[in-house]
Amino acid sequence: MSRIKFMPSGRTINARKGKTIFQIAREAGIHLNTSCNGVGTCGKCKIKIIEGKVDQLTSSYSLPQTLQDQGYSLACRTVVLSDCTIFIPQETRLLGSELLEERGEIHLTEAIDRVGINPRFRRAYLALPYPSLEDNLSDWQRIEREAVKIWPGRQLVPTYRVLQEIPSLLRDSDWKVTADFFDRGDALLLTNLQKGKKTIGPFGLVVDVGTTTLVVELIELSSGSVWGKTSRYNPQITYGEDVISRVIYARQEGGLSQLQREVVKAIEHMAKKLIEESNLSPDDVSGIYVSGNTIMLHLLAGIDPSFIREEPYVPAASFGWWEDASKFGFHLLEKSLVYFLPCVASVLGADIVAGLLAAGFDEPGPLRLFIDIGTNGEMVFGNGDWFLACSCSAGPAFEGGGAKHGTRVIPGAIEEVKIDRETCDVEIVTVGDMPPQGICGSGLIDLLAELYLNGIIDRRGKFDFTCKANRLRKSNGDYEFVVSEGEDKTKDITITEADIDNLMRAKAALFAGIRLLIQTGNVSIEDIDKLYIAGVFGRYLDLEKAITIGLLPDIPIDKIEFLGNTSLLGARIVALSQDFERKAKEIASRITYLELARSSRFMDEYVSALFLPHTHLDLFASVAGKIPKKKKGGSC
Ligand code: FES
Repeated sequence: MSRIKFMPSGRTINARKGKTIFQIAREAGIHLNTSCNGVGTCGKCKIKIIEGKVDQLTSSYSLPQTLQDQGYSLACRTVVLSDCTIFIPQETRLLGSELLEERGEIHLTEAIDRVGINPRFRRAYLALPYPSLEDNLSDWQRIEREAVKIWPGRQLVPTYRVLQEIPSLLRDSDWKVTADFFDRGDALLLTNLQKGKKTIGPFGLVVDVGTTTLVVELIELSSGSVWGKTSRYNPQITYGEDVISRVIYARQEGGLSQLQREVVKAIEHMAKKLIEESNLSPDDVSGIYVSGNTIMLHLLAGIDPSFIREEPYVPAASFGWWEDASKFGFHLLEKSLVYFLPCVASVLGADIVAGLLAAGFDEPGPLRLFIDIGTNGEMVFGNGDWFLACSCSAGPAFEGGGAKHGTRVIPGAIEEVKIDRETCDVEIVTVGDMPPQGICGSGLIDLLAELYLNGIIDRRGKFDFTCKANRLRKSNGDYEFVVSEGEDKTKDITITEADIDNLMRAKAALFAGIRLLIQTGNVSIEDIDKLYIAGVFGRYLDLEKAITIGLLPDIPIDKIEFLGNTSLLGARIVALSQDFERKAKEIASRITYLELARSSRFMDEYVSALFLPHTHLDLFASVAGKIPKKKKGGSC
């Protein structure tokens, strides 16, 4: 019998020698992706042998040589011959539906295939000859002499901190060490030294610092494999839900350092969990790659963001640089280097630059539109050679805020709504099939479209009382429609006319921004070849309904693609490839940002968009055909 340990879960299984890893995992109920049922033709069961003796069966599918060189093989073609430690990468662990949701992952794989994996950090095992009277080079020169054999012609430089550690570390490790180098361009910088031989790594942390949520991924930089991922609320929320209140808090005495401490502490907490789950050491994490909006990056870096909200809205830094993590208050990861992805403007941050990378905008091609919908709607339009961008305030409407019964995406949030035109009955779908708790952004969009298509509201978003919808009522001076009935009237979940006004303003601002970009580019909506939607919100969005209310332009649905968390994906691409680090800077420098605050054209477009779907129905030909004729005396 052999003991087979599966990472990153750490689960250990006793199995007979001669079985394939695929068979062992399946018998133990450990999920591995497959679409060929283990006959070696699909390539979906990729795993990495960390330790142990194995044999390879022949296969008609062969993994890329670079992966094979790093110990990757197909689980269904790998037979165990001894005790083994096996790593299952995220792409092999995810269920098919989860993979499908992350279309962005596919873009990432394509992007990396284009340029190859070429991270800043590289790791080498050095077995150094013992010093002697005949060979009495300094400790550092001894390291340099061996390392330069691996990277001939490169200049090697140690950091001061590593130099301080070298004397005892080399002697305690019998002169056998694993060295991590950072490719600074002009030289390879020795950033870390560990005892003994490490067969995996180096690793990087990819961090998306969202205003609401922090997401952290642990990735192996040499292979691109994701070893773990975790998320939590951004603890800065306690000091203000939106970015503006945080900027105000940062101006108070000690406010900025407090906000910085909170977010760094949270990132380290998440990193610790991921590192422990993967049986690694904090010293294995060489780089931290941070993406987020411009204000979030200022707060993490401890740089005053105050002037971002004062005309002419100029940030202190546009980032795109490396620094020692210790300078920002990292303790667990004090030996790491941090890279802040570049920002474009005060309201166009690294998250958008990362998103454009994840959507493949670094490559010239047809006209594409990228939209990230949150509190702000950020959008970029271009063909890879040029980019036009703008940002408009959507308010919290699409995140479930600003509505009487609005909620974030939580279990029980109403995410889908269907109204029966004859009976006016409302069918709802909630997140996790839980009892309804409120209506999230996608639910509000569904609801607005259904109210309109069923004649319950008119084109201005006002309730039409000539329809006899028995769910329409007046409450506390405002008209409302009952979406879900509670035990009593006070527990009903409703949408009010004021909520609808908020939604109308938010969708009008977004669409006006899109129109302005397209007009400035001197093209028309039909010229859009692809529309990419970033962010978690997009995943739950019903596209037809979003077009019905005039939030998205009326283009064929097969031209629209959800990409998931592109801020995180873009940061991961940068972590894996120096080429993409350069491309991120190029993209940021090529974006022409349109300031909407004083644009009269924007105001005109905005006013025109304050109707369902729009003042100009010819812009929404597919919707015009769906608007039912008014029924006299019907339920709705
Ligand atoms: Fe298809 Fe292994 S399961 S190649």
